[in-house]
Amino acid sequence: MSEKYVLITDESTGKDLRLPVVEGTEGEPTLAIKALPSTLGYFTYDPGFSATAACTSRLTFIDGGKGILRYRGYPIEQLAGQSSFLEVAYLLLNGELPSEEEFSGFSEQITHHTMVHEQLNHFIAGFHYDAHPMAMMAGVVGSLAAFYHDRMDMENPEHRMLAAQRMIAKMPTIAAACYRHHMGRPTAYPRNSLGFCGRFLDMMFSVPAEKYEVSPLAARVIDLLFILHADHEQNASTSTVRLVGSTGANPYACVAAGISALWGPAHGGANEAVLDMLSEIGDISNVPAYIKRAKDKSDPFRLMGFGHRVYKNYDPRATIIRKACYDVLDEMGVDDPMMDLAMELERIALEDDYFIEKKLYPNVDFYSGIIYRALGIPVSMFTVMFAIARTVGWVAQWLEQSKEPTRIGRPRQVYSGPTARDYVPMEKRS
Ligand code: SDX
Repeated sequence: MSEKYVLITDESTGKDLRLPVVEGTEGEPTLAIKALPSTLGYFTYDPGFSATAACTSRLTFIDGGKGILRYRGYPIEQLAGQSSFLEVAYLLLNGELPSEEEFSGFSEQITHHTMVHEQLNHFIAGFHYDAHPMAMMAGVVGSLAAFYHDRMDMENPEHRMLAAQRMIAKMPTIAAACYRHHMGRPTAYPRNSLGFCGRFLDMMFSVPAEKYEVSPLAARVIDLLFILHADHEQNASTSTVRLVGSTGANPYACVAAGISALWGPAHGGANEAVLDMLSEIGDISNVPAYIKRAKDKSDPFRLMGFGHRVYKNYDPRATIIRKACYDVLDEMGVDDPMMDLAMELERIALEDDYFIEKKLYPNVDFYSGIIYRALGIPVSMFTVMFAIARTVGWVAQWLEQSKEPTRIGRPRQVYSGPTARDYVPMEKRS
């Protein structure tokens, strides 16, 4: 039972209510408001859920003020520097870092599930060649429910874990197939002798006519980016997966919903929007005019890759990616003017009172596209890269929710429409 309470008083009636304080192991305390409607007759109103916790979770902790991000208690900086994407996937799914034997078994499991049903390739072939890959991903991943729906017992934890592992394993295969459809190339099948990221690069860029050598640098950098994008507590797409999961929907349908939510430019679609924005700005001399536009309330333009609902400090992932940008461009001998432009945009913005007062800093999406571009990933695939990585977080959060008794998510509203009125027959209407 809660030890702490917050007393609220309805001044119109003088009635009091002691709301129990719910505290986690870290982070802001919350008020359990369930008794509010039955006691004082009020619901709460919080558009965008800025001040509302929808669940408890043991997976990821963010301290927005201090710019802290930890997966299962491990700082993102340590995981980025010492772990691998598959090890992070194991950690998020299971709660602890794996032993060598556990990791080997998990890697084998993921490798074993990289293939997709051949029918899926006909599904992909049905898209127009210039379909946006995120539209294809949402459709194709959702269709996986048709391949596994009847054989999945949602009450069986082993079936749930298998579904989670299947999605982690198949996302790169589906992503690469969508890209190759767009390029007019035949599907490349996963080469299970390669690692997770090398296998993805091979499925993306290999051509039947010649041997493809995976760049160790590219595989290493993508592994780092996948670690950084793996999970981020209750962001919009993860909350979507949880909400869809709360209805008992098929996990593939839950992830397809997450993909759709991620696509928005306010969320994971921002990495693509950043490159489009930098291309539109074009030259460092134009930066001041765009900063001016970003500050103008009458102008819908926003600085893409800047700002965050939780981080009111530097996004720790952006710090890591910014450094990786330098290392990758340096190691590849690439001199990308977009990097110079991004750095100048960041410098000017961070010196501007508007961005300082509103605590708007670069987020995970500001620099990631520059690395993807250097690796030859097309802009339209940037959010797909985010989705491949975030699938780990989505399925880990879905698994966590599915282990606990969960009530269907069903927010309330403040009704602002017409009050009761009678129907008027067509002939009597004015
Ligand atoms: C991701 O939630 C997550 O964890 C997401 C994510 C994850 O890993 O899952 O971290 C990934 O989605 C990162 C965010 C990527 N999106 C962008 O980079 C798009 C540009 N950013 C903004 O649209 C915005 O900052 C959001 C969507 C990220 C956050 O929006 P909020 O929390 O609703 O903030 P807000 O819109 O209320 O902004 C607060 C103020 C506003 O001004 P006022 O109304 O107070 O005068 O800051 C302004 C905004 O106009 N503002 C910006 C701005 N972001 C906020 N002004 C100019 N440029 C911006 N980018």
